[in-house]
This record gives sequence, C-alpha cells and structure tokens, in this order.
Amino acid sequence: MLARLTRQVSAEKEQDILMHHEYDGIRELDNVLPPWWVWLFYGSIIWSVVYLVNVHIIDIWPDQKTEYTNEMVQARVDVDAYMATLTNTVDENTVVLSTEASVLGSGRTAFTQYCTPCHGADGAGSETSVGPNLTDAHWIHGGGVKNVFSTIKYGVPEKGMISWKTQLKPAEIAALTSFIISLQGTGSATQKAPQGELWTEGGAPVDTTATAPDSSAVRADTARLAVN
Ligand code: HEC
Repeated sequence: MLARLTRQVSAEKEQDILMHHEYDGIRELDNVLPPWWVWLFYGSIIWSVVYLVNVHIIDIWPDQKTEYTNEMVQARVDVDAYMATLTNTVDENTVVLSTEASVLGSGRTAFTQYCTPCHGADGAGSETSVGPNLTDAHWIHGGGVKNVFSTIKYGVPEKGMISWKTQLKPAEIAALTSFIISLQGTGSATQKAPQGELWTEGGAPVDTTATAPDSSAVRADTARLAVN
C-alpha cells in the first residue's frame, strides 16, 4: 500500500535510477513524483475549477466576503435573541405578564420583603393600611402589566408610594408586577375598599371620566414622573 502511494524504488534497484552526475560524492536518484502528491495536485486543480465556476461564474456558493457578511448578520440575530432573554433589560414598554411559577415565586419573595408594610401580607391591604388593595380590579394608576410595572418603577412619591427603580432590578420589578397581577380577585375579608377606576384589560377604563383611553399607554401621571 505504502509502496503504491510513494512508488519508492527498492534499495536493490536504486542503481537503475541513479543519475549520472556527482558532486563531491553526492549523487541523485531520479525518483518519480509520489502518486499521493500527484493526486493531491490534480485534485486541487479540479477543485479550483469547481470553485471558480460555482463561486464566481454561476454564483451558487457565496464568496468569502458574502460568507462573512452572512455570518455577521446571523451573529447580530443571535445576539438580539440572547439580549431579549435577559429580562433585566425590561422596561414598562416591553414588560410582559409571566405566569411561570419561578417568576411568581420571586415576585412573592420580593413583595414579602418590601411591600407588605403598606399593602398587607396578601396584597389586599386593610382599612388602616397606607397602600391600596392590589388584589381588586380597581386601579388608581391603571391596571395591566405596563401600568403596574410603571407605578412600581417610578412610584407615586407624593402619595407615599416610593419609586423602586434604584432598589430593584428591572427583572425584579417585572416579577413583582406578574405576582401582583396574579393576585387579582384573591382579596380578603378585611381588604381595603376599592380605590381608583375599574380596569378592564385590553380596553379603556370603564369609568368614562378617565383621561387615558389607550389602555396600553402608560398613563400621563406616571409618565410625567418618569422624567424625574
Ligand atoms: C411606604 C408604603 C408603601 C410601600 C412600602 C409600597 N407601597 Fe405601593 N403604594 C403605596 C401607596 C400609598 C399607594 C397609592 C398611591 C396613590 O394613592 O397614588 C401605592 C400604590 C401602589 C400601586 C398602584 C395601585 C393602583 O391602584 O394603581 C402598586 C402597583 C404598588 N403600590 C405596588 C407596590 C409594590 C410592588 C411595592 C413593593 C416593592 C410597594 N407598592 C410598596 C404605598 C406603598
């Protein structure tokens, strides 16, 4: 096998291919080119033709520059997809409701840690609690993920609800938001009476005196606070 690949002449027959010149006793054998090398050489010539035709003439394969551009485009798509999974970049415009147990669980933990003094352990408040009932369908600053997220993030400092954006990460605010919305309708026997307007998801607040007809928009009052 090796002999076929190299076509090396055996030592006994070297005499036959010995060339006639001699320099200071150094002589040369007239070996043929090893077939493995010759095949590789022909192969590369054939390949160059295939490459030339496919890449430069009929254009069915991308050239290196196009390949590079394609890879960069794909990389951008991948990075964007990855960034979208980082919930820490979420804000009141991109926040979405989560019903995942892990998210609601961390929302509950944060709620217990930061929010219960004013909103009650169950979020329903009481007649003496500072904060409103978060379990009913009435909202002072609008219901739905976007408004609730926005209220927690920017707060209503003049009414005693602080802005949490410096203490909580966006992902934590998002988890709190989903947790609070999951409390809808739970209430309690001693819950605080409804305050604000009845909120219907996907529609304008039922109260026609409301100023924000677009439910998806952040209400003007919270948006104003966002500037501070
Ligand atoms: C120091 C007391 C206090 C704490 C602590 C507090 N809140 Fe509030 N919260 C309030 C008050 C007071 C309001 C009502 C503001 C108003 O009347 O405009 C409110 C309103 C809200 C609203 C809007 C309710 C509505 O009807 O629109 C949400 C949502 C809310 N709080 C969530 C939270 C969350 C989440 C936390 C914990 C991270 C928290 N609050 C901690 C006092 C508090």
